[in-house]
Amino acid sequence: MAKKAKTVFVCQECGYESPKWMGRCICGAWDSMVEEKIQELPERDSRRRGSAGAGAASPSPLTKVGSADYQRIDTGIGELNRVLGGGLVKGSLTLISGEPGIGKSTLIIQAAANIAEKGAPVLYVSGEESEEQIKMRADRVCPEMSDSLLVLAETNMENIIAACENIRPGFLIIDSIQTMYTQELDSVPGSVSQVRACGNLLMKIGKSDSIPVFIVAHVTKSGELAGPKIVEHLVDCVLNFSGERDHEIRILRAYKNRFGTTSEIGAFQMESGGLREIQNLSGSFLESTEEKTEGSVVTAVYEGSRPVFLEIQALTTPANIGFARRTAVGIDHQRLSMILAVLEKKLGLRMIDQDVYVNVVGGLRPDSTSVDLGVALAVYSSLRGVTCRRRTVAIGEVGLTGDLRSVSAAEKIALEADRLGYEQIIMPARNAGRMKRGEAGRCRISGVRSLSEAVRA
Ligand code: TYD
Ligand code: MG
Repeated sequence: MAKKAKTVFVCQECGYESPKWMGRCICGAWDSMVEEKIQELPERDSRRRGSAGAGAASPSPLTKVGSADYQRIDTGIGELNRVLGGGLVKGSLTLISGEPGIGKSTLIIQAAANIAEKGAPVLYVSGEESEEQIKMRADRVCPEMSDSLLVLAETNMENIIAACENIRPGFLIIDSIQTMYTQELDSVPGSVSQVRACGNLLMKIGKSDSIPVFIVAHVTKSGELAGPKIVEHLVDCVLNFSGERDHEIRILRAYKNRFGTTSEIGAFQMESGGLREIQNLSGSFLESTEEKTEGSVVTAVYEGSRPVFLEIQALTTPANIGFARRTAVGIDHQRLSMILAVLEKKLGLRMIDQDVYVNVVGGLRPDSTSVDLGVALAVYSSLRGVTCRRRTVAIGEVGLTGDLRSVSAAEKIALEADRLGYEQIIMPARNAGRMKRGEAGRCRISGVRSLSEAVRA
């Protein structure tokens, strides 16, 4: 008698498995459970390995393990190399995530074309676009293409593996993992089990043949990698490509990198001929700073190894009856609430009946607390109707007591401020104390201890 196939319900958000369907998963996601067949095969496999595999594995002393210098491949894109930690490591798996239409495919085809130019075959597998569509894009971004750039419109992993064995590519690109499937499983492409299985297969290809693999992954509405947290653990690097859809600047950031730091960012500008690197990042988020208006303050963050200057805009308006609105674009909502609370308590501003909108101009999302002071001053400026002094930068982390805490690399930000022609930089007293007189050239340094001192400065 044929046994009824056992099934399990898997949350597509977090991978949680439950024997019964649930409207809401334990991770909090609604309607995310999908029924999947339990695969008997891997289980039997592991049991067999358990009994017969004795003696196969032999550990070696760490001192005897050769410390292989990573062989890095130059992608021809400086900003991408920088985020990867100095180039693409052979045999590494890299996941690149981002919203649809942000430019993942464009970035990768540009890197692929550059690598193909050096002779090694590059295989670009797309499950989303036809070969003609890929060609159209490639024509736009790299008119001179080498014959080593191979494309394949395919979603079946077994066929992709066969193609890899034939071609032995020097670089493999999978666009995107959510469209790929393996015949071994019955579940639909994009489901947790398929994504996990495909990720494993890709890792095998990459590690056994020392091929660097780039995997494109979609993100959900909330910006999380869709489904496959599991893949995040498999891969060596997790990159995120972000930016405002209607703004040209795109930021590439590493969330995980086994071969480099995660503090570097790469900046690009989307143009009609593809992505162009932005080398001089520090001033590129600023529009004309000559005219100062209410609610606008220039601040800076230190991203990786370079300072970035950005403009914070705030607007406060009397609220209608009910709750006052707090809207933040580019900075953390809770951080904004905290800054508003400090402003209310320590500077005596009445925020309760004010709607507050804060925006980081240019679509950057600085994840450093050194923009706190800029946000606080922008809100203050809008509420009180005063303008911040011209050519002034403000950096500092706001503490709950209204004090200003020091930020990292303030000296370097000050130097860059001088280079960009700023006349004054407001920074925490602790940072200012560490700087020598005249270190920032013509730019005057105002060390302040608290938020109220900063307002006066
Ligand atoms: P794409 O790389 O297809 O995004 P993703 O793979 O992340 O979904 O980029 C698509 C967008 O980029 C599209 O809206 C058009 C724009 N674009 C340009 O502005 N210039 C170009 O040269 C290219 C190729 C795309
Ligand atoms: Mg794409």
